[in-house]
Amino acid sequence: MIFSKSCSFLGLYLVIVACLVLQCCAYANQTSTTLVVDASKSGRQIPDTLFGIFFEEINHAGAGGLWAELVNNRGFEAGGTQVPSNIAPWTIVGQESAILLQTELSSCFERNKVALRMDVLCDNCPSDGVGVSNPGFWGMNIVQGNKYKIVFFVRSEGPLYMTVSFRKTEGGGILASSNIDASESEVSKWKRIETTLVADTSSSNSSLYLTTTKKGVILLDQVSAMPLDTYKGHGFRGDLVNMLLELKPTFFRFPGQTLRNAFRWKDSVGPWEERPGHFGDVWSYWTDEGFGYFEGLQLAEDIGARPLWEALDGIEFARGEATSKWGSLRASMGHPKPFDLKYVAIGNED
Ligand SMILES: *[C@@H]1O[C@H](CO)[C@@H](O)[C@H](O)[C@H]1NC(C)=O
Ligand SMILES: *[C@@H]1O[C@H](CO)[C@@H](O)[C@H](O)[C@H]1NC(C)=O
Repeated sequence: MIFSKSCSFLGLYLVIVACLVLQCCAYANQTSTTLVVDASKSGRQIPDTLFGIFFEEINHAGAGGLWAELVNNRGFEAGGTQVPSNIAPWTIVGQESAILLQTELSSCFERNKVALRMDVLCDNCPSDGVGVSNPGFWGMNIVQGNKYKIVFFVRSEGPLYMTVSFRKTEGGGILASSNIDASESEVSKWKRIETTLVADTSSSNSSLYLTTTKKGVILLDQVSAMPLDTYKGHGFRGDLVNMLLELKPTFFRFPGQTLRNAFRWKDSVGPWEERPGHFGDVWSYWTDEGFGYFEGLQLAEDIGARPLWEALDGIEFARGEATSKWGSLRASMGHPKPFDLKYVAIGNED
């Protein structure tokens, strides 16, 4: 029964292919062609390991897609290293007479020097604050009851009074909010701030706001907003990873990309805030590299697929002992056991 069904499927398929071929020829020329397919013999067996996922940072497959980071242009680096630079998609909150925004090369991170400087000029600032907001990729999807981990780096001349909130992009209604206060001595040098926001309401078109009501100078860098409920807590969107699981892939091939807009794996490992990020000039957008080489290996492991990697010198990072040079960096990121990397692709799409 099953056999005859699959046979008739094959038959139908061949008829369609033959029709297409014939029609095509008929248009090009009036002569007819006969295509004979001998389906009685099976071809070479296709190995099980040949069915998998081909991932590439195209059209926001990673940044704004699988990778759950909500902030777009987290480190203010997307506008380039000539300062002052464009900070899009960040926008100003408040009147331009109340706050001046500019970028400068004063970050505490060596490989991504651009930081944002906010000169807050108002003596009587509006009660809902002035500052900056980020709409994410297409408006952040904030879900009632969900928790979000906010991390950013800050420096201030004077004590710090800030509010971190999610607000509706349209209308500005507050969905979640947290106050961050620190004394002058705590923030006179760069300081890492972490807080959790819990959404009171949902909105699929939200923005992250960093605001203050006090005059002064505040510097910001590496602002991240991550949902806490990512797949296995590893930073990938659970709804999309579940779709990948349904494909039952045996391998996960990444990162793709050509030499011109290459992904440099050494720039994509270690603490996320220290990664330089890169501009993919073929697809014309910036990625902060939160989804780097480690995260790709982790995702492959989480979905039970073998990673398929493209660069020779990344092999030790994936497979080396925790005591080896690159294996020890992987261990410091929380995975002392080698990943199951067995395949290496040479070139792109070969
Ligand atoms: C179309 O048919 C003519 C006459 O049989 C032949 O000379 C010509 O090469 C054919 N053209 C194509 C595109 O097959
Ligand atoms: C989100 O809100 C902004 C600001 O009003 C608007 O320009 C944009 O089109 C909205 N996006 C969606 C997906 O509705």
